[in-house]
Amino acid sequence: MLQHIKFLTAGESHGKGLSGILEGFPAGVPLSEGLIAKDLARRQMGHGRGGRMSIEMDHAEILSGLRHGYTLGSPIALWIQNRDWENWKQEKMSHDAPLTPVPEVTLPRPGHADLAGTQKFGFSDIRNVLERSSARETAMRVALGAVCRAFLKELGVEIVSHVIQIGPIKAQRKSDHAFKSLNTVADASDVRCLDENAAQAMIKHIDVTRKAGDSVGGVFEVLASGLPPGLGSYTHWDRKLDARLAAAMLSINAMKAVSFGDGHDVAEASGSQVHDEIITENGNIRRATNHAGGLEGGMSNGEPIQVQVTMKPIPTLAKPLRSVDIKTRKVGMAHKERTDACAVPAASVIGEAMLALVLTDAILEKFGGDSLDQVKAHIAATGVR
Ligand SMILES: Cc1cc2nc3c(=O)[nH]c(=O)nc-3n(C[C@H](O)[C@H](O)[C@H](O)COP(=O)(O)O)c2cc1C
Repeated sequence: MLQHIKFLTAGESHGKGLSGILEGFPAGVPLSEGLIAKDLARRQMGHGRGGRMSIEMDHAEILSGLRHGYTLGSPIALWIQNRDWENWKQEKMSHDAPLTPVPEVTLPRPGHADLAGTQKFGFSDIRNVLERSSARETAMRVALGAVCRAFLKELGVEIVSHVIQIGPIKAQRKSDHAFKSLNTVADASDVRCLDENAAQAMIKHIDVTRKAGDSVGGVFEVLASGLPPGLGSYTHWDRKLDARLAAAMLSINAMKAVSFGDGHDVAEASGSQVHDEIITENGNIRRATNHAGGLEGGMSNGEPIQVQVTMKPIPTLAKPLRSVDIKTRKVGMAHKERTDACAVPAASVIGEAMLALVLTDAILEKFGGDSLDQVKAHIAATGVR
């Protein structure tokens, strides 16, 4: 779904580390490892995470594409080492054939990629699937998204997110937080929620769920401000920005639904309640409201983009569900791994990264330019802002 930039990730959850390459990214963007580290740390936060996050201190090393603090326009390669590799390399994750047989994982977890993945590749050991289907991969997406965020920032585009639901607990949506400070407030909350009362109830709900050996999902919202109208296009299905955003969000592990603006509520409302009247403000054409979430006809309309993403409960359960051994066909309880009970706060940071990647792509597609200065000049020349 990306039209201009490309990115690739590689790496297993308990492998040596994660690699990422971002290609087609402009020159002249100020970038540092410290800047990427900020977003990686934000992804590691959140009440409900498992033991893994206390082992990892994610840091992305920039291997190429940067000189004297500015991007070169050449591919940007990143590397995140898995600290946990030290504990796994001798045995379960050795690259060479193990000296002694390693026990295979044979009881697939309902809700995970285990069963379909082993059937797809003909594996007898579920570990061959779970190592890559794990959301550990999203650490690299956050790193690549941070690179894009640096570019967007130079253009005055800000991306923020917050959690609006965990299990049955919903946050009050009326918020007086200014767009710019939204992430500061969200990051100060253990569940990245702006509504303090709801946040307390969410934390309790996670604790109760975890104690019961269960897991919980929720909903987060990602927003972007400072965008010009006309990103994406109504002219063809695969150019539509809302479709591209939905695909990007649904590509995050465990995301099951996406909505924009007023989201699912539009089904019940009438047209006059949903569509945003067109007004002028200091001579500029604006919208009186933003029910559409900044998207009409598959294009940005100049209002903030607002995407809500629903995450299902984590599949690995301390009290596992019934399963069937793929080797013996005997009924048993599903495989258990160290696991998160809730990862919605972390997922919201991953959502920011995917939004940053898609918006960078859409801006380069519309305005073009090999360097940041050229992109800026092209935007200024169109007079769209
Ligand atoms: C930040 C994050 C952390 C996750 N942590 C876990 C985990 O600890 N255990 C688990 O079973 N699933 C976890 N998941 C979800 C699985 O990766 C996901 O459900 C699985 O890959 C199957 O894909 P699907 O749910 O999209 O069908 C996590 C997802 C995210 C976004």
